[in-house]
Amino acid sequence: MAADKKAVVTIDGPSGAGKSTISRMLAARLGYTYLDTGAMYRAVGLHVRRREIDPEDAEALEAGLDELAIELLPVGDDDVRVLLNGEDVSAMVRSAEMGLVASQISAYPQVRRKLTELQRSVAATGALVAEGRDMGTVVFPDALHKFYLDATPEERARRRCEQLRLRGENPDPQEILGQIIKRDHADSSRALAPLRPADNAVIVDSSVMGPEAVVEYMLANIKGFAMLGEK
Ligand code: DC
Repeated sequence: MAADKKAVVTIDGPSGAGKSTISRMLAARLGYTYLDTGAMYRAVGLHVRRREIDPEDAEALEAGLDELAIELLPVGDDDVRVLLNGEDVSAMVRSAEMGLVASQISAYPQVRRKLTELQRSVAATGALVAEGRDMGTVVFPDALHKFYLDATPEERARRRCEQLRLRGENPDPQEILGQIIKRDHADSSRALAPLRPADNAVIVDSSVMGPEAVVEYMLANIKGFAMLGEK
C-alpha cells in the first residue's frame, strides 16, 4: 500500500552521517514517528547470528525469515525500541559487528522484501521520519520530502572514534576509516536497492554543519515546500 505522500519524510545516507540523531530530532519537531530501518536490518542480522545461519546460504536465510517477527515500538517523542520475536534487542543490535552482519544480509531480496513490507505497513499507521539507505528511492518513492545526509568518510570516522572513546574504548582511527569505506562500498554497490540519493532528494552535507543547523535547514525546506504548495 502506498503511504500518504505528505506523511513521510525520508532521510537516507551512509553510516555515520548523523542520520539517527537528525531523524530523531526532526521527528520530535514535526511530531512524527521515527522509523529506524537500520535497526530492523540489524535485528535480522542478530537473528541470523543466533540461529547460526550462514549469511551466504540464501536458502537457509529464507527459511530463517519465516520464524522471525520484528516490531518497532515508539518510546516517548523521539525514540524507538526494536523487538525481535518479542524481545527488546535495541541495545544489542547497536554493535559494530551487527552493523556488518546487517550490511551482509541486506543484499538479499527476501530480506529486503520482508522489511520493505513491514516499513510500509508502519507508514500506513501515521506520519513518519524514515531513515535508512533506500527510503526515498525504493520504500517510499512518493514521499514529499526526501533528504540525503552525507559527510566525508574522514569526518564520519572521527565521530565514530569519539563515540567509541566515550564508551571507554580505544579505537584505531585508520581501522575505523577502513571499516567505513568498506561498508559504504558494500551498501552502494549491491545490485538491489543500493545506497544512492533519490533523484528528487535534497542533499545535505553534515561535515560542516552541527545537528541543530541541519534540522533547522530541513525544517525550513519542508516549510518552504508546504508554502509553495499552498499558493
Ligand atoms: O543505518 P545502520 O548502520 O543501522 O544500518 C545497518 C546496515 O543495514 C547498513 O549497513 C545497510 C543495511 N540497511 C539497508 O540495507 N537498508 C536500510 N534501509 C537500512 C539499513
